[in-house]
Amino acid sequence: MCGIVGYIGTKKAVPVLINGLLSLEYRGYDSAGIAVLNSSKSSDYELDIFRDKGRVKNLQDNKDLQKSDSTIGIAHTRWATHGIPSKENAHPHTNNDKNIAVVHNGIIENYDKLRTFLSNKGYTLYSETDTEVIPNLVDYYYKKNKDFSEAGLLKAVADTLNDLIGSYAIGVLSNNFPDQIIVAKKDSPLVVGKGDGENYIASDIPAVLSHTKNFYFMEDGELAVISKDNIDFYNTFLKKIKKDLKNIEWDSTQSEKNGYDDFMLKEIFEQPKAVLETIGTSFEKDKINLPLDDIKFSKFNKIYIVACGTAMHAGLATKYTFEKFAKIPMEVDVSSEFRYRDPLINEHTLCIFISQSGETADTIAALKLAKSKGSTTIAIVNVIGSSITRLADYVLYTHAGPEIAVASTKAYTCQTTLLNILALYIAENNLNNLDDKEVKELASLKKDILSLPQKIEDALKTADAVKDIAKNIYKKKDVFFIGRNTDYTVSLEASLKLKEISYIHSDAYAAGELKHGSIALMEDSVDVIGIVTNTKILPKTISNLEEVITRGANVYIITDQTIDNKAFKNIISIPKISYMLSPIVSVIPLQLLAYYVAKNKKLDVDKPRNLAKSVTVE
Ligand code: AGP
Ligand code: GLU
Repeated sequence: MCGIVGYIGTKKAVPVLINGLLSLEYRGYDSAGIAVLNSSKSSDYELDIFRDKGRVKNLQDNKDLQKSDSTIGIAHTRWATHGIPSKENAHPHTNNDKNIAVVHNGIIENYDKLRTFLSNKGYTLYSETDTEVIPNLVDYYYKKNKDFSEAGLLKAVADTLNDLIGSYAIGVLSNNFPDQIIVAKKDSPLVVGKGDGENYIASDIPAVLSHTKNFYFMEDGELAVISKDNIDFYNTFLKKIKKDLKNIEWDSTQSEKNGYDDFMLKEIFEQPKAVLETIGTSFEKDKINLPLDDIKFSKFNKIYIVACGTAMHAGLATKYTFEKFAKIPMEVDVSSEFRYRDPLINEHTLCIFISQSGETADTIAALKLAKSKGSTTIAIVNVIGSSITRLADYVLYTHAGPEIAVASTKAYTCQTTLLNILALYIAENNLNNLDDKEVKELASLKKDILSLPQKIEDALKTADAVKDIAKNIYKKKDVFFIGRNTDYTVSLEASLKLKEISYIHSDAYAAGELKHGSIALMEDSVDVIGIVTNTKILPKTISNLEEVITRGANVYIITDQTIDNKAFKNIISIPKISYMLSPIVSVIPLQLLAYYVAKNKKLDVDKPRNLAKSVTVE
């Protein structure tokens, strides 16, 4: 949530900061601000702050900001947690003397106590934010320690961090030291980008990917002092530490719309390639090859998949493959529940965490809990070097490339693909659990996995038909999705997608469960979308769909089966594949449906209201 960008070098800082903020817009925010240092006539530096409620564009239009030749600055998009979205609450915040500016992502939980402390020391707090305590505490320690050198400012920041309870990624800029930015982080993301005679800070890689591909990933408790030619890293005790520089292979054009109206549409159409890349790294010819050689899978008697939102739906979609082939009971849970319910896990449990961003606060907490109980942890993550990748025992990367739209699409298909591959990998490592028939089925599923990119490509051809349906559905107040088994799991994902970007109320039901209550909602002109891809249970779902037609519902069907039944007039056909993989194909028209419905409603598809791409608070 929210975004931080910083620059120090020889270029004009403002365009770098504005472009960085624009590329972080997808994370969700309500106000924005920038602090730069401008040299005044007296050759001293002035700390100039520009901030406003609303879009980054408001800053872009500010003539005084445009005039700045500053080559150093920090910038912020705020997603308000404490205090309404307003100009006064927007970051950067400063100390009372206005010579220390701070941008902050996260929540200072003990801010109230710290505000009282500062008020008692004679400080005035002008905003309603938790953040404003930070620059004032830095000021307090800076003066108290009586060390007015650069090291003194760093010490004052470290002392301040000792007082903070909560989460933070911060950038600190002071006109007393015009050649440095100090940064620190705990439980909120922050990367440092290394350039040539210039350096960057950012909440995530795409914000500065057009400037550098070399990154340091800050760990919790670390600080850094960044100048244009140097970056020094410190631990909590201000001991210098060494960090590895990582080269990121992502192409900066992947973070651009490349002619598409929206990132979401672009990302939907990128799925054949993204899935191909994900398969490519885990298959060597037809042999599955994952970097998990030293795990002895026979020791596990239970698998947990833990994740949030769409990532959790990817877990649900693959329960069938895990149980059928890996033959280990599997439970899927949402991270925010798992972390607070004392789950029955131990060294015989394999816990798999899924996250596109690798920064989701609840998933991080769930992972820490699993580790503390001695479970083996595998993370399936898209963003290279993100927090979850640094915490898990083993990491498998999806190769979706940067996903910018808040609504997750290509991450889901890549996660679901990789989870299926993992299930088969475990099965192949425990082959004695399978009979001959199952060994053949496993080989056939592997072939199906390799065919996924083409099947997705073909499923994308439904776009026009889906566009037509969307012209009716966008007027509706409620839309229901039903299916059985993997079709039910994809219904959950379809419903989430529609809700989050079109704001239409929607629910997903296991088709067989309808008559236990929810069928009461069926009446004239309610829209029900049925997903039918499993030959074995086709007649069952079809009967459930007939039941809702009888009660007046309009039914649309997404299917890879032949449905010869006059009751159904709206059928969208998708390519056939094993029901265990079908969510990866059937989700395509459903993603497109959410997209076109939102477009019909003229909504901002990439930045839906109230949502953030990276949910770094619980
Ligand atoms: C997906 O469309 C959502 N915006 C959301 O549910 C997302 O999948 C969830 O917040 C998890 O994020 P993560 O994969 O980055 O952990
Ligand atoms: N808690 C801070 C505020 O409300 C920072 C929020 C953010 O992460 O944007 O200002």
